Amino acid sequence: MVLERTYVTDTTDILKVFKHSVQQIGSLDYSQQQIEAWISSAEDIQKWKKNIANDYFIKAVKNDYPVGFASLKNNNFLDYLYISPNYQKKGIAQKLLNHLISIAKENKSDCIKTNSSKSALKFFLNNGFEILDTNILKIGGTSLENYKMILML
Ligand SMILES: CC(C)(COP(=O)(O)OP(=O)(O)OC[C@H]1O[C@@H](n2cnc3c(N)ncnc32)[C@H](O)[C@@H]1OP(=O)(O)O)[C@@H](O)C(=O)NCCC(=O)NCCS
Repeated sequence: MVLERTYVTDTTDILKVFKHSVQQIGSLDYSQQQIEAWISSAEDIQKWKKNIANDYFIKAVKNDYPVGFASLKNNNFLDYLYISPNYQKKGIAQKLLNHLISIAKENKSDCIKTNSSKSALKFFLNNGFEILDTNILKIGGTSLENYKMILML
């Protein structure tokens, strides 16, 4: 598995990983309606292309195929972190996070913030992030709860 920079030409592959990753989230964390609303955020392709072009985007590649990705906005906000279902629990998110932490430090950021899903909460807590607040996101006709978190560098 290697980490590679991600470009706008990767958008279709990145969105496949995003959709598969969200689809497998268990009903303990979010309802089917909430998961469908979350997946629907893949429809705004222009927004994704803009984020991929402007932010620090990396992908985890296995056998020439992306199996996960992550992004850092303004060197201090972890925006995306998604791993394909078959490749979870193998330390790939950890490698992506470690890389983004090193980029944030190189750019003299003193913290990284993120909005963690319920599904990723344990992962971020295990990595030293602390909960600052609870967010309620309105997507489509439904709302999703996540956690505003911070890691001091
Ligand atoms: C949350 C998410 C990004 C974690 O990705 P991941 O690649 O599975 O994460 P890692 O493998 O680095 O770590 C996850 C767990 O696997 C364990 N692990 C890592 N390598 C392992 C290995 N070789 N064997 C067994 N377990 C392993 C880690 O210790 C960690 O344990 P924990 O659950 O006790 O914390 C992933 O589950 C995901 O994409 N979820 C859905 C989308 C989502 O919610 N994204 C976050 C949006 S903010």
